[in-house]
Amino acid sequence: MSEEKPSSEPEIRRGDFAREKGEVILREHEYDGIQEFDQKLPNWWLFTFYGAVVWLVVYWVLYYNTPIYKTDQEKITEEITALHKKKDAALAAAMESITDEALINEWATDSTKVGAGKTIYTTNCLPCHGADLSATMAVGDQSIPLPGMALNDGEWKYGSKPREIFKLINEGTPADSPGHNGAKMQPWGQMLTPIQIAEVTAYLISENPKDFGK
Ligand code: HEC
Repeated sequence: MSEEKPSSEPEIRRGDFAREKGEVILREHEYDGIQEFDQKLPNWWLFTFYGAVVWLVVYWVLYYNTPIYKTDQEKITEEITALHKKKDAALAAAMESITDEALINEWATDSTKVGAGKTIYTTNCLPCHGADLSATMAVGDQSIPLPGMALNDGEWKYGSKPREIFKLINEGTPADSPGHNGAKMQPWGQMLTPIQIAEVTAYLISENPKDFGK
């Protein structure tokens, strides 16, 4: 303590006093010989910090409590809804031309479409329905059953009209059905376009001429 500023003046805090004198202020503790400065943070730092605090409040209000800005979650949900709408519209448009008659008389007689359908079948359906549509697989001289149902036995569990078969492939096992031996089929509409499903339906029709008036 210097003589000009006696310690009896209580309004002068130690930090101010030391700063006026150009002294470095040290905190009182010391650990392992290490001491800490006790400096006032520079104003640019402090105001950056206060600014960040204010911005946090503004941001939180704008994004989470008003409709002005959307959160990422809201943006994603909107985009997914738009995609679903687009897909539904595409399906509705496709189904206008893909009628039962068109599937039997146009699609199933068109070798390009049936060929495309066969490729789709081989890639996606064969593991459960078998290479010969019998839902079995030959191993040596044994025939092993596969999880799917036979697609060449003249029976169509969910309707034998081409559009009913299309619908089953598109939407999978209906929610209220227990499936086949407990196995349900997935909705292939999530992986294949309406055109591809029509092609694979056409392939199934062409392989079952007796079932479809041909
Ligand atoms: C993971 C195995 C699996 C795959 C892969 C699979 N299915 Fe299925 N499929 C099933 C099962 C299980 C059923 C029986 C569903 C039920 O009873 O609800 C079935 C039923 C069907 C039926 C109704 C059969 C009938 O006799 O009524 C059709 C048609 C069909 N699938 C077509 C397809 C097509 C086309 C594909 C490829 C795009 C395909 N499946 C791929 C398991 C599969």
